[in-house]
Parts: sequence; structure tokens; C-alpha cells
Amino acid sequence: MSYFFGLVGYPAAHSRSPWIHNHFLDQQQKQGIYRVFETPPDEFASTLKAMRTLQIDGFNVTVPYKERILSFLDEVDPYAKMIGAVNTVHLENGKWIGYNTDGKGFIRSFKESYPRHSFSEMKVLCIGAGGAAKGIYRALVEENTPSVDIANRSQQRAQEMLDLKSSETNTSILTLEEAEEKMSEYDMIVQTTSVGMAPNDKESILSLTHVHPDAVVCDIVYRPMETAFLKEAKERGAHVLYGHGMLLYQAALSYEIWTSSVLKAELLLEKFEQQLKGEEPC
Ligand code: ATR
Repeated sequence: MSYFFGLVGYPAAHSRSPWIHNHFLDQQQKQGIYRVFETPPDEFASTLKAMRTLQIDGFNVTVPYKERILSFLDEVDPYAKMIGAVNTVHLENGKWIGYNTDGKGFIRSFKESYPRHSFSEMKVLCIGAGGAAKGIYRALVEENTPSVDIANRSQQRAQEMLDLKSSETNTSILTLEEAEEKMSEYDMIVQTTSVGMAPNDKESILSLTHVHPDAVVCDIVYRPMETAFLKEAKERGAHVLYGHGMLLYQAALSYEIWTSSVLKAELLLEKFEQQLKGEEPC
């Protein structure tokens, strides 16, 4: 059989997903294509209609459609429903089923790099309260992380994330300034906003003056690979986790849903790093 996968988003033309999925197909010696449907907002419904007609086996959904896609699906799995966002759609018996692999992709990326760290013993700071933050926060809750604070510019938006909490997780809502002050308390800090993304790569959402040197500082931004935020973390002696790992592993989890197979995605990590580095301006 030959698979037909795709991506719908806007902008999406420069997505790394085709590269990643073509390498996954190669790894498993499967046939297939991964096509980018770059779709402006007024064409979203008609593109999806065409994708239905084409009987696409599965597709990814990226900005700005992760919430808008929900009303076009036949079913949404409970995890994605809770987060309110879908990044993966699979055609199952003629029905479009929605999933969200972002948060779990982050967890897998972290575990690959820091296998000896246990979420059940960590105090975590999550910076941001958007779609990506929600996925990561919920995934941390499901890993039984005892304490996950949220720092965000809008306190209201951060408060809304408390709906994703379990009774076992302690969460305080902080301003960005409060988070800076309390920074030394955290074992892990995860930056989930787009602040620091190229071309604004000099920007950093907050200062890491008080970061603990044993802490792991993570950024989900992967362009540039080493953001100003991670650079500061390194300079202060902390450990870091780059954003491209999450990108790779969320893609792997999508692929595994589409093909009911298990990948060795970690084998592609180094090659993916080289690919991204080759694209970065010197
Ligand atoms: P995504 O779905 O990609 O996570 P989003 O839902 O638009 O994107 O969320 C963006 C996140 O980045 C939010 O936490 C946002 O803060 P607010 O909730 O206060 O808007 C944060 N963000 C974006 N630009 C920011 C900036 N310049 N300074 C601080 N926070 C910023």
C-alpha cells in the first residue's frame, strides 16, 4: 500500500514535516507521500473538503487551525478534547478522528535527553498559556508531576489552564516577574511561547538570573536552534533541551497513529539537527 499524508496550515510552505515524514517512511521501507496544503483562512473549508475527497490517510494541523479543525472532525480523542486543540487527524473507517501529540512529543523529547530525570519528583515552571502550553501542561499532569506553576503575561489566560489540572498537581499562577524571582526553586523550566523565534531571535521572555545550575531549561522554539533563552541558561550553567526534539517526536507520534507502527525516531535526531543547522543563516 502507499500512504497519503499531509499538513494543513498557514503559513506552511517552509514546514519541516515533509522532511521528517519522508525519513520515517524510508526508515520503515514504506511507500507514501506527505503533501503540504498551505491554506489561507478563507479556503480552509474547501481544502478540507478536497482532502476528504482525496481520502487522505492522515494529516497534521498547524497554526492557526489547531482549534478550528475541531468542528470538521467526526470524533476527537479525550486528551485532545480536553486541551481543545488537534494537531493530528487520522482516517479510521471513513471517519476523521482528531488527536493531539504535542504535549506527549515534548515528554518523549525530554525523556530521550534526560532518561534519569523523573517527572514525579519535579517542580516545573511552564512559561506561557497558549495552545502549546496547554498540551505540555496536561502531559506533565499525566506524568504525575507534583508541582507545575504557570507564568504568563495574561493572568486570565493562565487561570483558564487550571481546568487541565488534576487534584494531585499543585499549580500557582505567576506573573513573569514573579517567576524570575522564584526561578531557583524549579528543576525544570519550559518556555512554550513564540518569543525568541527568528527573526526576533534577540528576544527572551524573561531573565534566568536565579536559575538553579542543576535545572533543565527547555524551549519549544527551534528556529534558531539555540534561542537567546537557552543561551542564557547555558551561560548560567544549567542544562538545556532544544525545541526541535519536540517537533520530531510529535511527528513520530502522529506517524505511529497513522501507520499503527512503532518508529525509532531517535535515530533521526542527529540528521535532523544537521538539516536544521544547514538551513540557519550564519
Ligand atoms: P500557541 O498556540 O502557538 O501556543 P498562542 O495560543 O497564540 O500560541 O499563545 C501564545 C503564548 O505566547 C501566550 O502565552 C502569550 O501570552 P498571552 O496569553 O499573555 O498573550 C505568549 N506571548 C506571545 N507573545 C508574547 C510576548 N511578546 N510577551 C509575552 N508573552 C507573549
